[in-house]
Amino acid sequence: MSTVFTGIGELVTNDPSQGDGSRLGIVTDGAIVVEGERIAWIGERRHAPDADARIDLGGGSVIPGFVDSHAHLVFAGERSAEFAARMSGQPYAAGGIATTVAATRAADDAALRHGLARWADEMVRGGITTFETKSGYGLTVADEARALRLASDFTPETTFLGAHVVPAEYRDDRDGYVDLVTGPMLAECAPLARWIDVFCDRGAFDVDESEAILRAGAAAGLIPRLHAGQLELGAGIQLAVELGAASVDHCTYASDADVEALASAAGTTVATLLPGAEFCTRATYPDAQRFLAAGATVALATDCNPGSSFTSSMSFCIALAVRDMYFTPAQALWSATAGGAAALRRDDVGVLEPGTRADFVALDAPSYVHLAYRPGVPLVRDVVMAGSVVSTPGF
Ligand code: NIG
Ligand code: FE
Repeated sequence: MSTVFTGIGELVTNDPSQGDGSRLGIVTDGAIVVEGERIAWIGERRHAPDADARIDLGGGSVIPGFVDSHAHLVFAGERSAEFAARMSGQPYAAGGIATTVAATRAADDAALRHGLARWADEMVRGGITTFETKSGYGLTVADEARALRLASDFTPETTFLGAHVVPAEYRDDRDGYVDLVTGPMLAECAPLARWIDVFCDRGAFDVDESEAILRAGAAAGLIPRLHAGQLELGAGIQLAVELGAASVDHCTYASDADVEALASAAGTTVATLLPGAEFCTRATYPDAQRFLAAGATVALATDCNPGSSFTSSMSFCIALAVRDMYFTPAQALWSATAGGAAALRRDDVGVLEPGTRADFVALDAPSYVHLAYRPGVPLVRDVVMAGSVVSTPGF
């Protein structure tokens, strides 16, 4: 059974061999033929082969589904009071994580699953067709394993973040907590995760602790990624590059040497920028052009979490990235799709070409540029995931 999707005024493929030959590979009046979960053919409509069925996407722009390579969706409770305090001048600190840890430990599985389903549904309706999610609000062996078990029902991209902060009960025994994370917690969590992450920053873990945890994770078969440079300059970005991590995320603070290291590791370690975090913590945005001009691979992700970035909207992140991080609209779109796929080391998503997953999004707009040009407007009209239309107007 094959389906041809038409009504595509502008088709962003991320395949430079298509259409205008730009990095976004933009085809005018395009069509996509889908067989099962994959793309069988893509190009100009006038050349499209016959198919068993036809779906009209409304004539606007069609883009690859967003790939959100950084989110924290297993949690209970919310922290609007903390957000309001920040907007009245309080600074953001890693310590707020403890509030969510307490609420998450107290929640039953059904409540956590219900939350995950809600955030995942928000993401899909907003055009995110692949997302990663982390543990990190449990911080006991049982609670971290539970978070990963629940998350695995929603995404294959699960990340063990036992090293989010040192929990209160280990305040006077940091080494004891690192031993727990690298020992029994890792043993229980490694089979449930693909990735391992550490929050390497002020108030969380230092670079030596981070290295020990990531090396232990790698020895257990997990692939490292790292939170670094959110709150201050540090050695985290260089550590991520040294370890061949798949990504280093935030990079709000990055030295010239950090940027150079990321550029030299462009095929291996992606710099993932998280504009929702700067927005929600009222921090200064990093200038994406530093990373892009140097040649680093750059991804954009939501960092959706109740403390520092409570948005599940990639469109909103693209608008912030363009307006405040100096991405061009084309760079932002690439980073939110192909860049995210690179950060998750996935070659089956983020690009629309024969053989990749049929994950794409039809916008109620003539051009993808409207994602930044019309901030806050819900432009996602249809979401196609693995070949099936999962949302329709009014969904
Ligand atoms: O990515 N930086 C560490 N973790 C989250 C914040 C989590 C929280 O404040 O609850 C982040 O921004
Ligand atoms: Fe994060």
